[in-house]
Amino acid sequence: MLKRSKSYTTNAKFMLHGGDYNPDQWLDRPDILIDDIELMKLSHSNTFSVGIFAWSALEPEEGKFTFEWLDEIFSNIHSIGGKVILATPSGARPAWMSQKYPEVLRVNGSRVKQLHGARHNHCFTSPVYREKTQIINRLLAERYGDHPALLMWHISNEYGGECHCDHCQNAFRGWLKEKYNHDLKSLNDAWWGPFWSHTFNDWSQIESPSPIGENAVHGLNLDWRRFVTDQTISFFENEIVPIKEITPDIPITTNFMADTFDLIPFQGLDYSKFAKHLDVISWDAYPAWHNDLESTADLAMKVGFINDLYRSLKQQPFLLMESTPSAVNWHEVNKAKRPGMHLLSSMQMLAHGSDSVLYFQWRKSRGSSEKFHGAVVDHDNSPENRVFKEVAKVGETLEKLSDVVGTNRTSDVGILYDWDSNWAINDAQGYGLKTKRYPQTLQQHYRTFWEQDIPVDVITKEQDFSSYKLLIVPMLYLMSEETIARLKDFVANGGRLVTTYISGIVNEHDLTYLGGWHKDLQEVFGIHPVETDTYYPNDKNYVTYKNQSYELKDYATVIDVHTATTEGVYVEDFYANTPAVTSHVYEQGKAYYIGGRLEDQFHRDFYRELIQELGLEPAFRVKHGKGVSVQVRQDQENDYIFIMNFTEEQQNVTLESSVTDLITGEELSGDLTLEKYEARIVVQR
Ligand code: GLA
Ligand code: GLA
Repeated sequence: MLKRSKSYTTNAKFMLHGGDYNPDQWLDRPDILIDDIELMKLSHSNTFSVGIFAWSALEPEEGKFTFEWLDEIFSNIHSIGGKVILATPSGARPAWMSQKYPEVLRVNGSRVKQLHGARHNHCFTSPVYREKTQIINRLLAERYGDHPALLMWHISNEYGGECHCDHCQNAFRGWLKEKYNHDLKSLNDAWWGPFWSHTFNDWSQIESPSPIGENAVHGLNLDWRRFVTDQTISFFENEIVPIKEITPDIPITTNFMADTFDLIPFQGLDYSKFAKHLDVISWDAYPAWHNDLESTADLAMKVGFINDLYRSLKQQPFLLMESTPSAVNWHEVNKAKRPGMHLLSSMQMLAHGSDSVLYFQWRKSRGSSEKFHGAVVDHDNSPENRVFKEVAKVGETLEKLSDVVGTNRTSDVGILYDWDSNWAINDAQGYGLKTKRYPQTLQQHYRTFWEQDIPVDVITKEQDFSSYKLLIVPMLYLMSEETIARLKDFVANGGRLVTTYISGIVNEHDLTYLGGWHKDLQEVFGIHPVETDTYYPNDKNYVTYKNQSYELKDYATVIDVHTATTEGVYVEDFYANTPAVTSHVYEQGKAYYIGGRLEDQFHRDFYRELIQELGLEPAFRVKHGKGVSVQVRQDQENDYIFIMNFTEEQQNVTLESSVTDLITGEELSGDLTLEKYEARIVVQR
């Protein structure tokens, strides 16, 4: 049983519902601002993220600040008992600033200075931009720090991208000097300098990667990605100096992102580092529900995966900072959420650890680029349309779920995701350029557990491994000596470890290990992977495992077995009848190697045995068919169980013990029918 998280939940005892509210677009329409108050109540909204893109409304001219309108918004929200998540406005600059101080504008990789426009495009090193953000952030903290409606800080918006200006080049060189102890030789060694004559003899020769310059030195590319993360965090840390000073007790977040179709982690920043600087993780989820490529359940599985990663970054509840109640406006096809999907998809976020359902944006814009993006209040300004009513239903439901706030999850299975390794493998000239798909490979391993309702943490390499019975580390191309040592310890102490093809190939500098696979890996796995074969899209092979045959695509590793047991063999090609899957007892634990990219059914069968052997169980058992997911949050006394039907058909499920429906108050046991897209939230006390 779990302790309640000590995150922001000390301030909020209710599920947050509402989202990005941009009254600065409506300041000449006081009638609309008054309508908002009524519509907030009718939509059961209680929390509003304000000021995200309001810099030109807050400082229309340099040094001339206009906070009066925001004062009024604070009181409007407070008057209905609502809360404010106050943003710092650095996500978009006023034009006067770019005009007067061009250094705030980014220079792209081709060294082209960008013009003023759009958003999310400031230089993260610019001393002027750092100073300007601190000035306005200080004023915001001084003015609203004591306001009873202030719940949380939303720092900037969706940090991302990079700048290649002279300030950034200097900062990058300074970062490298520190990393390599001012020793240029160790940098040249780490970057394999002599290849193509890329040895530097002065720090000033080093430039960030560029399509018109250096882009082939993998060590440089990797260090640049790490620098971009560190420099973005440094910009963020500079933003929060006055905020921490003036409002030390108000929690801080910034909104993370994910790729919308594959629901893989945002690739631009190492969130495992960023997470340490935040009090609460929040993220913006825009899954393309009802798309024509996959089933609803397949997409739901991926949503589960990314939620389990973002929850595991701090091992505490997180916030859904943005979502849409209907369609977005930026997919190729912007499909409306079908009736019922809004409630179901919102409940799925809660099920994996969110303490909110928040939207972008609360009122739809009248003009400019997001005027057709789904919102709570549409251009009709009416509470009577379908989308508004579905939002209000989510709001009413959340009001009955306040006991779930702050509860967490626990898991015996960890799947390891690593940003460094993802960057390095994508950069590698080798294997199949289009088939690496590292994050998608993790989803494939996650799927089996999701289908069986067995909770999983998706963790990163610096986290403690010791609480897991089973640790799954697919395709971890980059493994430092330190990671290898920690994996070895994990197995030595009794853990079960699974890895696959293309793992442990390079160290933290993207330099390959010499003398074959690292000797510690050879010792733990009892094998030596000697050659990796890459397939054309139409190639396939098979693996025989426990008398069954499974299809293999993309990759097959030829394995020399030392002391391991061969569990499966390849069927065809020059390595026919040689080991494809192995297991090996090492000290107290056991290590498994899967040599090829195998179909889903292999993972189901392979993990079934481990699941049985290790006694891995759902946190609450419900018998159900395909496409139903059961996820549980817990505290010391209660299990909060989310039973969700991600199919277009009615589903009959069977509860193995009796529970109380949190929405209707009914006592439930035995058989239960779920309608298309229905979610039931029940408690076992
Ligand atoms: C060319 C170049 C070599 C090497 C190979 C790789 O032949 O001359 O330096 O890059 O391609 O295939
Ligand atoms: C992102 C941004 C928002 C908005 C939405 C639209 O999440 O943070 O400002 O543009 O996308 O989906």
